[in-house]
Amino acid sequence: MSVRQEMQPAGAGSAAIAAPLVSIRGLTKQYGGHVANSNIDLDIFPNEVMALVGDNGAGKSTFIKMISGVVTPTSGTIRIAGEPVFMTAPSIAREKGIETLHQNLALVDVFTPQENIFMGREIQRRVLGAIPSLDHAEMRRQTISLFEELGLKAPDMTKMVRALSGGQRQAIGIARLLLDRNVKLIIMDEPMAALGVEESRLVLELIERLRDKGYAVFIISHNLEHVFQIADRIAVLKTGRMVGTVRRADVEHDEVVSMIVGGRMPQRLTSH
Ligand SMILES: Nc1ncnc2c1ncn2[C@@H]1O[C@H](COP(=O)(O)OP(=O)(O)O)[C@@H](O)[C@H]1O
Ligand SMILES: [Mg+2]
Repeated sequence: MSVRQEMQPAGAGSAAIAAPLVSIRGLTKQYGGHVANSNIDLDIFPNEVMALVGDNGAGKSTFIKMISGVVTPTSGTIRIAGEPVFMTAPSIAREKGIETLHQNLALVDVFTPQENIFMGREIQRRVLGAIPSLDHAEMRRQTISLFEELGLKAPDMTKMVRALSGGQRQAIGIARLLLDRNVKLIIMDEPMAALGVEESRLVLELIERLRDKGYAVFIISHNLEHVFQIADRIAVLKTGRMVGTVRRADVEHDEVVSMIVGGRMPQRLTSH
């Protein structure tokens, strides 16, 4: 076994040496003879935004699917708060505080914001002697307070989500994840992909706010401009291998591009 260099956080609290929230070693996924992820090491710390970048087919989706329990690794270990976890189902990831915002958001278009947020977790009201009924007032109150926590104006509660903007829909998707108070790591797959400039800005601000609240955010993005705006660290994948992780503050845009294309760390830097 090789001696691996310990990776350190670069997030807002980088002065303190924090323990990693998620610690990944040797993670590998093979599909038949094809290696989609090869021997990947990565640490994710609380209170940081980590971006994962790489060309199409580099293995980004496969990697987040393994951390979120959608795809079972061929080999390697995933530790959460130091404990090895066999991530064999999304419910296990969720139980361990890992929530994933998928690209399609999984919202129901014809439901209102609060119906979407409480879908499958509806709050019921029991008045003595009566049949339990849905407590709409309480769900509405909690929806408004979730948006307040996110520093956002609550959406129009009477509208179906299909009538809302892309940014508002993203916010509803995120509020839905936060309803589970146990969440520690939020994974987002291309959350700005379908959004315009102004809407993207709102989502970027929202991601910063999540980081400032102490969550770890792991985000896949094709847009390096966005990545440079919000990421504390940038991890680069190429053809299934981890090229390296760099602190945003240490690198230039062009250097990240050559990591993506050339598959090598810039000579002047070591992986962080
Ligand atoms: N279910 C699968 N079966 C076979 N090959 C797959 C499967 N999923 C992904 N791959 C292959 O693994 C590689 C990485 O894919 P993916 O993780 O989707 O990359 P990215 O998200 O970076 O575009 C690609 O070559 C892709 O064709
Ligand atoms: Mg993908």
